[in-house]
Amino acid sequence: MTAIILFDSLLGYMLDKLKALKKEIEKAADKAKDISGLEQLEIEYLGRKGKLTALLKDLSSLSKDVRPKAGAMANQIKQESLKLFELKKGELGGAVFESLADKEREDVTEPGIRPPQGHLHIMTQAIREITEIFNKIGFVRARYPEVDWDWYAFESLNMPPDHPARDEWETFFMDAPTSKKGKMVLTPHTSNAQVRELERGEFPVRMINIAKCYRRQSDITHVPMFHQFEGLYVDKDVSISHLRGTLDYFAKAFFGPDRAIRLRPHHFRFTEPSFEIDISCGVCGGTGVAADKTKCRVCKQGWLELGGAGMVHPNVLKAGKVDPKKYSGFAFGWGLERTYMMKEGMKIDDIRILYKNDMRFLKQF
Ligand code: PHE
Repeated sequence: MTAIILFDSLLGYMLDKLKALKKEIEKAADKAKDISGLEQLEIEYLGRKGKLTALLKDLSSLSKDVRPKAGAMANQIKQESLKLFELKKGELGGAVFESLADKEREDVTEPGIRPPQGHLHIMTQAIREITEIFNKIGFVRARYPEVDWDWYAFESLNMPPDHPARDEWETFFMDAPTSKKGKMVLTPHTSNAQVRELERGEFPVRMINIAKCYRRQSDITHVPMFHQFEGLYVDKDVSISHLRGTLDYFAKAFFGPDRAIRLRPHHFRFTEPSFEIDISCGVCGGTGVAADKTKCRVCKQGWLELGGAGMVHPNVLKAGKVDPKKYSGFAFGWGLERTYMMKEGMKIDDIRILYKNDMRFLKQF
């Protein structure tokens, strides 16, 4: 009898211990903050050296009659604890994914980030703009060699070999065999296109030739490679007023409606008469006087020099196999860089910056 009572109370003691352990597990699982914490608990309570395993060992001290009861309870606690840990893991794991989803959420409807995109060089932009302006009045862009014979660059333009006027065009000569048309040069101006265009024999001639030119010069107002745009108009009865009207149209289209041009007498071997073309200053409006009544710092006297022009010389027409008694025409040739730099708002104090490929400069246009 005593023995049974003793066994019974031992069983009661064991069951109490198991229940207490179950509560402890539940509490601990409740407090666990993450999955690795739960895994620790699993080892601590249910592992081979865990607290529940230690209790199970004590079961051997119970009598055979009651041992299964305690064993079943211990097993139940083990299974329930395992389930509880799984459940908890699921909850904590879900929370991890939720916060990940918040952190790494991607809005697929959001506009994408555009890759950086370049743009055309300002001189290419200028070429396109000028071509467009002349297209509107029927001038078509021509393309002629930028390495050409002396004949087209000088001789056919009424500048025989050794003529002192050639000095102005500080020419690069090619190390190439001389032909009937003379030496080869890097074109020092776009006027080589004049006779080449006349040779086509189609009238009226309305050409705009925009090309690279080369001269042995480099300083704040010169680059050894630059551009000119050359206009040539040849037809019957062409007069200076056609020249004036055309250039005035261009000045207003390119620089703005308030700008005006003036013709100043000059001398070129290939035009007669010849002019230097000026444009009214955009800063002082052609008065030469700044807003504060002092001399305009940009132009000093109201006008800025654009470039040369004139009526095509009869010898040039003849060189292009055109009869000067039947046809007449005008030509003009201006530096593209110079002309562009006279646009309002342009404050370029060294022309060479145009070709330095400095992104900080180029990006502004
Ligand atoms: N070719 C001349 C120059 O380079 C400009 C010009 C062209 C002058 C056409 C008159 C006519 O300076």
